[in-house]
Amino acid sequence: MHFFLLVFACALYGSTFALNNGLMRTPPTGWLAWERFRCDIDCQNDPKNCISENLFIDMADRLSEDGWRELGYVYVNIDDCWSSMERDGNGRLQPDPKRFPGGIHKLARYMHNRGLKLGIYGDMGTHTCGGYPGTTLDKIQIGAQTFADWEVDMLKFDGCYSNFTEQEQGYPLMSKALNATGRPIGYSCSWPAYCGGLPPKVNYTQLGEICNLWRNYDDIQDSWDSVLTIVDWFFDNQDVLQPAAGPGEVERPRYAAHW
Ligand SMILES: *[C@@H]1O[C@H](CO)[C@@H](O)[C@H](O)[C@H]1NC(C)=O
Ligand SMILES: *[C@@H]1O[C@H](CO)[C@@H](O)[C@H](O)[C@H]1NC(C)=O
Ligand SMILES: *[C@@H]1O[C@H](CO)[C@@H](O)[C@H](O)[C@H]1NC(C)=O
Repeated sequence: MHFFLLVFACALYGSTFALNNGLMRTPPTGWLAWERFRCDIDCQNDPKNCISENLFIDMADRLSEDGWRELGYVYVNIDDCWSSMERDGNGRLQPDPKRFPGGIHKLARYMHNRGLKLGIYGDMGTHTCGGYPGTTLDKIQIGAQTFADWEVDMLKFDGCYSNFTEQEQGYPLMSKALNATGRPIGYSCSWPAYCGGLPPKVNYTQLGEICNLWRNYDDIQDSWDSVLTIVDWFFDNQDVLQPAAGPGEVERPRYAAHW
């Protein structure tokens, strides 16, 4: 008995505009701290697992020395709980000085020297989900500039502690602000996850115009059951989600696989 794998690539050319910062022509792959390390900031008692520059350096070494980078796993992404509880004198976010003594710019250079990229986390709202300083509408521009100055390559923009009206303004505004810095920074929007992940509340046409990728559904927990629940959600809603996916060109081919 033979199995035939037939893949039909159907190029359906739409006329929508999409975010064009030259990034993420294929799905980005790499590592993000949250799933396992959460908001562990106890470096005194748990130095190997706490959110600190050492954790990200450690992961960068693994990706670059164990063959992951060659497979495309190039993003090393910081999630919540990296920052100090206070902005600096110029109103900029700053890393926790004890846990990130070298600063974010130095950490980005560490990644770049190894052919990797650094991602960072911000939150559209008064506070991050973990209670750290958020990025309200008036702080978006300085936030984007700070990340660009640090030569960061990607931003996850979460949505805790804001309402829909603010998100509706903030997510497009951050897209513009990142673009205005002149540095290509991959833009991951958590917005859909804060309004149920589905139309009509989520406008995937708009998301495609302002974000490189988006977050639709629940956090992954450290269990296979959790992974399955998420896979099921994408399966159940694929008719809505699949047409929105693509590499983000003005004319984007969409692929359908059958076997
Ligand atoms: C959203 O939050 C802003 C700022 O706190 C507030 O002024 C506005 O009334 C809120 N809008 C809604 C619809 O709750
Ligand atoms: C900014 O947007 C323009 C128009 O889409 C695009 O050509 C340019 O590459 C973008 N620049 C950055 C840094 O994202
Ligand atoms: C969704 O966004 C697109 C592009 O911004 C816009 O043209 C369209 O009117 C929006 N759809 C709805 C239902 O708001």
